[in-house]
Amino acid sequence: MSAAPQRGLPGTRPEGVRDETEAAAHVREMFGRIAPRYDLLNHLLSLDIDKLWRRRVARRFSALLHDPNARVLDLCCGTGDLAFAFRREAPQGAEITGSDFVAEMLVRARAKAAAARADVKFVEADALNLPFADGSFDLVSCAFGIRNLANYERGLREILRVLKPGGAAGILEFAEPPGKMFGAVYRFYFRRILPILGAMISGNASAYTYLPNSVSAFPSPEELKLQFERAGFVEVQFERWTGGIVTLHTGAKSRSKSA
Ligand SMILES: C[S@@+](CC[C@H](N)C(=O)[O-])C[C@H]1O[C@@H](n2cnc3c(N)ncnc32)[C@H](O)[C@@H]1O
Repeated sequence: MSAAPQRGLPGTRPEGVRDETEAAAHVREMFGRIAPRYDLLNHLLSLDIDKLWRRRVARRFSALLHDPNARVLDLCCGTGDLAFAFRREAPQGAEITGSDFVAEMLVRARAKAAAARADVKFVEADALNLPFADGSFDLVSCAFGIRNLANYERGLREILRVLKPGGAAGILEFAEPPGKMFGAVYRFYFRRILPILGAMISGNASAYTYLPNSVSAFPSPEELKLQFERAGFVEVQFERWTGGIVTLHTGAKSRSKSA
């Protein structure tokens, strides 16, 4: 029987790993293995709702995306779907870059960009040690990625570092729905049904056990808001979507040097 996930950890700790280095290696290897079936499973297991969530994030940042001088970074981009949602929102707008530390994900992202003639650049990079100068981006986004970082605080500080003063962050992540009835039904699906379907289709049972475990262990939206503020973000807010299955966290980098 697997140990209960423990909230309040500094970052993700898949079962059996001892420290941050092992956690990052485990996550990298896991996503490398599920990359070939990642899109199919995402859409199937969420009944395509994941597409609506990404479109909604893009609409939220529509004004910025329409600015051809703006620079946008989508962290932990996987096969690129949030970056593509940004591009569709503003075909001639901002310069959009996706980054991820799993090459197998980026191969697929680049193939999708070529097939759709989508102007999005993809870069292999660790979100905890980004190869970008301070103050490079107007918007940094991350969909379903931050929960997988081996150190959440370092991830948030790295986002803040690469943002321009006044720049915005938009972080979409799973959460545990607060409603009693809906929460119970959802937990049954998420903890009992999804791991079975995920294992059958991906051929990787541990990745789809890791998913609900990592959501349970991840800070609640209220806790994550505090972590954003502690990292130095201003105007921090969150909103729950789809009954609280996912949360969009937003924050900004202060324009003043003293903040
Ligand atoms: C659940 S997927 C999300 C992918 C995509 N954003 C989406 O919306 O489908 C998480 C992604 O985060 C990436 N990831 C996890 N830790 C990372 C890190 N430290 N640096 C860069 N990418 C990381 C994984 O490789 C994986 O592609």
